[in-house]
Amino acid sequence: MQKILVARPIFPDVIERLKQYFDVDWHQGEVLPADELTRRLADKDGALTAGDPVGAAALAAAPRLRVVSNMAVGYNNFDMAAFNAANVLGTNTPDVLNESTADFGWALMMAAARRIAESEHWLRAGKWQKWTYDGFLGSDIYGSTLGVIGMGRIGQALARRAKGFNMQVIYHNRSRVAPEIEAELNAEYASKQDLLRRADHVVLVLPYTKENHHTIGAAELAQMKPTATLTNIARGGIVDDAALVEALRTKQIAAAGLDVYEGEPRLNPDLLTVPNVVLTPHIASATEATRRAMANLAADNLIAALGEGPRAGRPPNPINPEVIGKARS
Ligand code: GLV
Repeated sequence: MQKILVARPIFPDVIERLKQYFDVDWHQGEVLPADELTRRLADKDGALTAGDPVGAAALAAAPRLRVVSNMAVGYNNFDMAAFNAANVLGTNTPDVLNESTADFGWALMMAAARRIAESEHWLRAGKWQKWTYDGFLGSDIYGSTLGVIGMGRIGQALARRAKGFNMQVIYHNRSRVAPEIEAELNAEYASKQDLLRRADHVVLVLPYTKENHHTIGAAELAQMKPTATLTNIARGGIVDDAALVEALRTKQIAAAGLDVYEGEPRLNPDLLTVPNVVLTPHIASATEATRRAMANLAADNLIAALGEGPRAGRPPNPINPEVIGKARS
């Protein structure tokens, strides 16, 4: 039997599925430190990760390893140049999380705009004595302008929901999406600068790459409206969190919603001191159904990539399909 490492706790029934094909080393404790992950990968043919960094050193120390299946759509934890050089396949879990993640983007955006978390904390603290006309005034969603940065599958799902809120949708992306998609979403392409100036609510849904590092920093926040909100459901590092703290503190923008952070699960402690930000612990895809779908898809990718099961040799979501069938190097 081929050997695999499952680097994180996942649904036990998915582990049972994997055990039908593989000898499974299942790590159920705290996140594996890099050296321990490398040690556990050394004798494995495949692995299932969820955001765990895998780079050249780990691949070099694991000469049998042919596939690493990430239980996430984002795969910035993989050094893909190293994967390609070693002929190791990486896989991810796109599509199954689009709708849940888009729902959550809306939840966070609306919570920020309408100050739901902030007012709830105030109420729980026993501070509500009387109703006032100007208590927790926020920014409207209905009839406002949504600015989506990153118009991939999740960005499109997010934009599709804007119709019911009678919003104008503008977007920025590396390249324009097809005209029929723009028409369906009633979305207008805008430069980043134009979007930041015009949007009432900016939502980030782009992948993390070196080029996207600090896509939103002090200069970009300065271009936004003082009534605007910023929501990040993409990746930590796309926003300069320190610059955001400053913009929130000085009311350069009204509010923010963050599900992802630079250096998470640690976060910039100053974020905890500003009231006008809603903070959630990287849960945008966290519904029972979606996390199950992601875990099963990650297992499907691993099973198929290692030549087992009904799709043997044809994993559904290869990131670098060009290495399929090539010998390990
Ligand atoms: C979650 O962040 C994912 O990339 O799926």
